[in-house]
Amino acid sequence: MAARLLDGAGLARTMRADLQPHVHEFTARVGRPPGLALVLVGDDPASHVYVGSKRTHGTEVGFRVDLHQRPATTSLEEVLDLVRSLNADPAIDGILVQSPLPAAMGSDAARRVFETIDPAKDVDGFTAENVGRLVQNREGLVACTPAGIIEMMEREGLTIAGTRAVVIGRSDIVGKPMALLLLHRHATVTIAHSKTPDLPAVCREADILVAAIGRAGFVTADFVKPGAVVIDVGMNRVTDEADVVRFFGEGSKRHLAWQQRGSVLMGDVHPRVEEVAGALTPVPGGVGPLTIAMLMKNTLTAALRRQSL
Ligand code: GUN
Repeated sequence: MAARLLDGAGLARTMRADLQPHVHEFTARVGRPPGLALVLVGDDPASHVYVGSKRTHGTEVGFRVDLHQRPATTSLEEVLDLVRSLNADPAIDGILVQSPLPAAMGSDAARRVFETIDPAKDVDGFTAENVGRLVQNREGLVACTPAGIIEMMEREGLTIAGTRAVVIGRSDIVGKPMALLLLHRHATVTIAHSKTPDLPAVCREADILVAAIGRAGFVTADFVKPGAVVIDVGMNRVTDEADVVRFFGEGSKRHLAWQQRGSVLMGDVHPRVEEVAGALTPVPGGVGPLTIAMLMKNTLTAALRRQSL
């Protein structure tokens, strides 16, 4: 049985189209568009691509999007000052500081930056205030990737209540908030990680399996219960031709893409999982576009709440 492929890119387009009239209404009522500030420090190529996409989509839905780009040599204090000025700016409703920050800023830099963002403008849902609200299942702003996955599952009519869910990965950005969102929708949730004994057996229990580990093709078919919903959060760049051939086959589309570009993108889920799963998010075109659409939704939500609308 071939899995149903969940079209994240198409769904993201629908979500943005759904948002647009609300953005226009906000702009007409308040006299300004919702404002989103994107902060990009350093020259991580993937971050530049992600932030570029966030800017394009934000502008398309009708936001004011300000991009604050700073060199890798910027000090942590300068970034904190920038965040404080954005907190104080009444025309800015959402602040996103793209991670990772340059290593030279220190291992604690991201936490210091996220702690400084006004929770009402924290469209990433990373502040302790918003994480605490999520733990307590209270209204707040929720991390975009897991929130986007839930939005997709609900729009696709996939059952969550009463299922067994396994989330592989315990990051603050994906694993932990994902587990909480599934728990609040009445799944029985396990968070698995690199120290989990017999990981494939734990994963085979799952009706919903979320892979967020950052290792190309790590989740193989033996991790997957037949018919399970498999959500692939991974976005890994594979540069070794032998790996591309091992995963996708000699002369496959991805192999040809590798021959042209020297690398291909793939998720944490092995291509052969498609033969076992009931539904599967592709990479690219699955979770990635949903994350950005969710950022747009969070920004509008923050803007409306700040105006008490
Ligand atoms: N880096 C990778 N994913 C994210 C995200 O969702 N938000 C931010 N700010 N940085 C990221």
